[in-house]
Amino acid sequence: MCGIVGYVGDRPALDVVVDGLARLEYRGYDSAGVAVLAGGTIDSAKRAGKLANLRAALEERPLAEGTVGIGHTRWATHGAPTDVNAHPHLDCTGSVAVIHNGIIENFATLRRDLEERGHELLSETDTEAVAHLLEEEMPEAGGLAEAMRRVCRKLEGAFTLLAVDTADPGAVVAARRNSPLVVGRGDGENFLASDVAAFIAHTRDAVELGQDQVVELRRDSFTVTDFFGHPAAYNEYHVDWDASAAEKGGYDYFMLKEIAEQPQAVADTLLGRAGLDGTLALDEMRLSDEDLRDIDKIVIVACGTASHAGMIAKYAIEHWSRLPCEMELASEFRYRDPILDRQTLVIAISQSGETMDTLMAVRHAKEQGARLLSICNVNGSSIPRECDAVLYTHAGPEVAVASTKAFLTQLVAVYLVALYLAQVRGIKYTDEITAVISQLAAMPEKVEKVLDIVEPVREVARSLASEKCVLFLGRHVGFPVALEGALKLKELAYMHAEGFAAGELKHGPIALIEDGVPVVVVVPSPRGRSVLHNKIVSNIQEIRARGARTIVIAEEGDEAVVQYADTLIRIPDVPTLLQPLVSTVPLQVFACELATAKGHDVDQPRNLAKSVTVE
Ligand code: M6R
Repeated sequence: MCGIVGYVGDRPALDVVVDGLARLEYRGYDSAGVAVLAGGTIDSAKRAGKLANLRAALEERPLAEGTVGIGHTRWATHGAPTDVNAHPHLDCTGSVAVIHNGIIENFATLRRDLEERGHELLSETDTEAVAHLLEEEMPEAGGLAEAMRRVCRKLEGAFTLLAVDTADPGAVVAARRNSPLVVGRGDGENFLASDVAAFIAHTRDAVELGQDQVVELRRDSFTVTDFFGHPAAYNEYHVDWDASAAEKGGYDYFMLKEIAEQPQAVADTLLGRAGLDGTLALDEMRLSDEDLRDIDKIVIVACGTASHAGMIAKYAIEHWSRLPCEMELASEFRYRDPILDRQTLVIAISQSGETMDTLMAVRHAKEQGARLLSICNVNGSSIPRECDAVLYTHAGPEVAVASTKAFLTQLVAVYLVALYLAQVRGIKYTDEITAVISQLAAMPEKVEKVLDIVEPVREVARSLASEKCVLFLGRHVGFPVALEGALKLKELAYMHAEGFAAGELKHGPIALIEDGVPVVVVVPSPRGRSVLHNKIVSNIQEIRARGARTIVIAEEGDEAVVQYADTLIRIPDVPTLLQPLVSTVPLQVFACELATAKGHDVDQPRNLAKSVTVE
């Protein structure tokens, strides 16, 4: 939530900052603002709505030229998305400007006290209080960095803060607690951002800051301390993708590009995992085989699309490793007092590695003594840093709010974890594991094939643009796929969409079926457990008898479904457990096409943000 950029260097700060905001806009797009230090003053501009509104305002009134600046794209928490509530916020004297990502939980008390002491706050935001607190601390602190440390000690909640001060025109000062912040190291210039995408066009050398740290950024240096001024440790790394990976590359939307990148993302996530002798070597796991043999229960925590990967993981882990596995929504997990101990392995799945609900679930599990593994796409993000081990997916940057390639690579990662557990626990022989690995190795080509034959999906999606509701049915691993199809449609097309386990239909949802209601059915392979296939064929007949318009996703060669499908979407034949890797893809295309037909911006759906860093 919220994108943050800071720059100190030789170039016009406004250009660098606005360019960085464009790359971070997926994090929040309710409003945007910038501030530049120039000629001993702060010049700023901010506008409600997308970055385009701010750009238009800057064309009308360009800011003064300066080489130090900060910028923000907002996902509103406190206060509506208006010009006034947009960041940056200034203190009473106009000499300090602040931008913020997160929620300051004690802001009401801080604000009341500030007002009692005579400060005038103009917005409804929690952020503005910080500008005024800095103003109060500045005289005694003797500088912005120390003032920031003092203010941070008074704040409760989650925050990344960036501030500039006219008294020190060569610096940007930032702080973080429970919210992302990275430094980009350039030559004679340095950057701050919530995500490396903001500065990847300028440098791939990054510094990951730790929890409760303050950084003072200058043209040729940066200094990191804790909130009490002690020097603090940080981690330097090199980003292994470049600016082109974070651009649309000729596609109309990032989502279309990311859907198309899936075969490569799946291949990259599989790369180098299996040794020559067929055994899996998940080096990043960092949990010893002994630790893993000790595990007697697995709990997966995740949100949204990642939780659907978690549901599929349950099927694979229990089937291959014979360990009991539960999937919990991270936002519910810690509130129901789960039973966890040293023999529990908690697996947190998160594309961004910053989802606050998942991070809090991880912390709760840690307090209870559980072992922790994360499956994550963003190197150095908060969740993997707080876990014992991490398996990185190699999807590359995912910019569209709707998760696509991250989901497929999460599936690959959970399959690998399930097989690894089976190997370590001696449940499967090496040749059995090798057989599944070769099936996985064939998946990039199968996903490519789905993309080649997906045109009928686009056609049917366009024909449904004026429908009010679409239902999705699946069984076994097709059930989470149905949930994922419905989630995609909700978030992109703003339509009522529900996913059901097909067997549950007769326990209530079948009452929703009436003439013409579109129902997408994910059919399991007829070559797998035939009982599953037969049951869903009956379910299709049941809904068709009640007037449903059936859109059936079925394996090539599955002739039993043909007579019951108003629209038939073919997918390649793959083993039952791996089917989500191919059956999800048409549903992504379906939602994207339908939303586009309705005129929606699929990269930035309303009310959403890519990375949900508040609970
Ligand atoms: O970054 P995460 O994987 O932790 O994000 C979890 C969800 O917020 C995310 O998957 C969300 O549901 C997507 N927008 C769905 O497309």
